Amino acid sequence: MNTLKILITGGAGFIGSHVVRRFVNKYPNYEIYNLDALTYAGNLENLRDVEGAANYHFIKGDIKDIPFINSIFEKHQFDAVIHLAAESHVDRSITEPNAFIETNVLGTANLLNAFRSIWKDHFEGKQFYHISTDEVYGSLGETGLFTEETPYDPQSPYAASKAASDHLVRAYGNTYKLPFKISNCSNNYGPNQFPEKLLPLFIHNIKNQKSLPVYGDGKYTRDWLHVIDHASAIDTIFHSGKNTETYNIGGLNEWTNIDLIQLLCEQMDEKLKSPKGTAAQLITFVKDRAGHDKRYAIDASKIERELGWKPKMTFEEGLSQTIDWYLENTDWLVNVTSGAYQAYYQKMYEGR
Ligand code: NAD
Ligand code: TYD
Repeated sequence: MNTLKILITGGAGFIGSHVVRRFVNKYPNYEIYNLDALTYAGNLENLRDVEGAANYHFIKGDIKDIPFINSIFEKHQFDAVIHLAAESHVDRSITEPNAFIETNVLGTANLLNAFRSIWKDHFEGKQFYHISTDEVYGSLGETGLFTEETPYDPQSPYAASKAASDHLVRAYGNTYKLPFKISNCSNNYGPNQFPEKLLPLFIHNIKNQKSLPVYGDGKYTRDWLHVIDHASAIDTIFHSGKNTETYNIGGLNEWTNIDLIQLLCEQMDEKLKSPKGTAAQLITFVKDRAGHDKRYAIDASKIERELGWKPKMTFEEGLSQTIDWYLENTDWLVNVTSGAYQAYYQKMYEGR
């Protein structure tokens, strides 16, 4: 097997940590460099089990910092990049859009420029794999699915910043023949997700008997995929995907928010040994998210047909394991929800 030096950006975050773990453990002949700025969403505790591995290296740094990014590319001569670092939360993008433009758009451009510059546009055996989201396609009505051909129509500053980064990657592919792949994935769930996103936030709130702030009427639909299935799809695309191709990744697992929350409440009552209906009493309908996308749903037939990938985890099993993980890892939750998180929570939810 080839030896490769792979830069994984955002490896201390939710999805990135699962990707780093998979690559470090499965490919001991690869040198894995995890570059992360350790923003509020990045946490090295997510990777405690691999930090001693001989093929794992952590680099603390910011993809917005051009001289720093250039210096690490020159020093390590990465053969491949798997780019996950991003500002990732839609609600934050509504209150602080510039942070999203700076990291997601300019940060991606900095990585592309550094990759070009070390290989001097001779890219034999190299690849830049950009991890994106289904939110670039906008919002669906009652029917239909996002395919790889769906025109981009991003509706939130987060989605627009990811769409812009996707366009940049394709433009560098076209202009400089930089070898790239892009995947656009649906909503992920699982261990290590920062509790600002729906599922970990609601698990945390149920445990602490806090209200469950459901935006609008709760009839918004998302397609949920377990993070370990996403990491396996990334592995498949990295190794078998075709240069310049895009792959949609999804769970064929659509839920309206309110149905998902009801299911979560039922499972939480069972696990916490509370009388039936206890958690559901915490459901509170609050002011809607501005510009809230109605429905996301992925057609993942291309990756299944061409690369033989499909999700392995059933939703019942995945959700139950996810709840167990958050209930067992109380130290993790306490650490990530202290300090700055409290201020964020007040700002985002007070007066809603
Ligand atoms: P996350 O917010 O949990 O993690 C992002 C990581 O990037 C953190 O570790 C953070 O410290 C790091 N980071 C942020 N800004 C940085 C900067 N300027 N320089 C270096 N590091 C920085 O996000 P996630 O949910 O794990 O998402 C990872 C990627 O997957 C993102 O690109 C996101 O757009 C994409 N994605 C996420 C989902 C989802 O449901 N979470 C779905 C599809 C695609
Ligand atoms: P989220 O986890 O933020 O992911 P995304 O916006 O990227 O899909 O939200 C998932 C859905 O849950 C979305 O329709 C918004 C909704 N939501 C709530 O109703 N209340 C909340 O407190 C949060 C965070 C999300």
